[in-house]
Amino acid sequence: HLVKSAEFVKSSPKESDCPKDGLPEFALVGRSNVGKSSLINVLVNRKELAQTSKKPGKTQLINHYRINRNWYLVDLPGYGFAKAPTAVRTGWNEFTKGYFLNRKTLVAVLLLVDGSITPQKIDLDCADWLGRNKIPVTVVFTKCDRRKKQKNGGKPSEENVRDFEKQLQDSFDQCPPWIMTSSTTGQGKDELLHHVARLRDY
Ligand code: GTP
Ligand code: MG
Repeated sequence: HLVKSAEFVKSSPKESDCPKDGLPEFALVGRSNVGKSSLINVLVNRKELAQTSKKPGKTQLINHYRINRNWYLVDLPGYGFAKAPTAVRTGWNEFTKGYFLNRKTLVAVLLLVDGSITPQKIDLDCADWLGRNKIPVTVVFTKCDRRKKQKNGGKPSEENVRDFEKQLQDSFDQCPPWIMTSSTTGQGKDELLHHVARLRDY
């Protein structure tokens, strides 16, 4: 099995409070409710390591999970949560941007994007910002199981992926790699773990 151990280490309000042991890390970012915490639980085979919720805005701190005692998965607050208190909403930019720009051990951002809907402006803006700041990104499409439920009018995930890719051409020197996943079916889980292992060993 690819993940032998997983433990929650700490929640940090800002970059300077994050663990200082120098282990490489991968940060999950994405719109509130896109499925970040669910994906963490699937990756580590645990039902409730990361707290999930039907109500968006559950994750409000930088949460470090140590995997196999030698790398971190980091759960960040979701963006675009309109109902969050203003301080929380605007705080996202301040402290997460500080985290992205200053965290030396950050290997790549795993940008979670809902694969069951057409590309959203806020996701494209986030990807654009990361790209222009030269922060390595892997796009992880979530909820790809949902395309089967869509009838006429619903776009299949593949089409949404191509749309998203096309709209990001100017933001990155090289188009970021992407992986299609579902926390419901486990689709893409091993692919993502292998991908992370490759980036880590680089
Ligand atoms: P915040 O912490 O609020 O930013 O949300 P989050 O991104 O951590 O989302 P979370 O994992 O809590 O999931 C939000 C909702 O989406 C929950 O009701 C999940 O059950 C559902 N969900 C997550 N992943 C999937 C998926 O792959 N497929 C389907 N169908 N539903 C999913
Ligand atoms: Mg969460």
